[in-house]
Amino acid sequence: MDATGATVDSRELETKVKDMYRHVAEQPDGKYHFELGRPLAERLGYPPDVLGRIPEGASESFAGVGYFFDLADLAEGEAVIDLGSGSGMDVFFAAERVGTSGSVVGVDFTSEQLAKARRIANESGYSQVEFREGRIEQLPAEAESFDCVISNGVINLAPDKGAVFAEAFRVLRPGGRLAIADIVSEQQMKESIVCDAALWASCIGGAAQVDAYREAIEGSGLGIEEIRENPYQFISDRARDASAKYGVKSVSLLAIKPSN
Ligand SMILES: C[S@@+](CC[C@H](N)C(=O)[O-])C[C@H]1O[C@@H](n2cnc3c(N)ncnc32)[C@H](O)[C@@H]1O
Repeated sequence: MDATGATVDSRELETKVKDMYRHVAEQPDGKYHFELGRPLAERLGYPPDVLGRIPEGASESFAGVGYFFDLADLAEGEAVIDLGSGSGMDVFFAAERVGTSGSVVGVDFTSEQLAKARRIANESGYSQVEFREGRIEQLPAEAESFDCVISNGVINLAPDKGAVFAEAFRVLRPGGRLAIADIVSEQQMKESIVCDAALWASCIGGAAQVDAYREAIEGSGLGIEEIRENPYQFISDRARDASAKYGVKSVSLLAIKPSN
């Protein structure tokens, strides 16, 4: 059981998630139940001038659910880690903010997303960027080595959200920030939705009830400073129905690790 209040077959879920995001990496023009790409990023609030500097290959596969870089407030020279970095748009966006004296690590478990992001990084000369294969529940990163943890549309896909926030806490330096966008729900969804791996992989079934989500963050030791709603919309009928019935919505939030 996790913050969604029910269980899903985690192996089946992982297969479905990897399959979905392999397609997102390789066929960004395909038909999906969610919006993709640069028009979505602009609608969510990403500044077009910065997007214009980011490689097109990365923004065409952007599958995030909100904008949070104003909350992250990244500075030159900072170290950032992106949980579930996909094809890398947010990693490159963060690299534009922290400059060449900073560093950005993207972590993902889908090989095709990693391969695409690495190819784009090499071709575009982002020397401060690195993509690591790994799971967000067990980050391939040292303790207290980052100023900011970012993540966009990913933690809802993880059955054990408490483990993800515990890892975010572990890798942050004291005083470090967690700035993310994710899908949550106003009401606890019924088990038939939560246990449906296909709906879960579509960013619906795994959406935790918002108070349980907050508790999972605060249970890790992080203090929530701000949470706000995003102008994100689901496209498929099934997703829209669940969204209307259970108040499934996108939020951006900022949480801080206490200073020692
Ligand atoms: C909705 S996409 C978002 C990608 C990226 N953040 C973006 O905004 O475009 C979710 C990504 O998270 C990755 N992912 C999902 N669960 C994961 C996990 N437990 N560990 C590592 N990566 C995961 C998927 O492979 C996929 O690339």
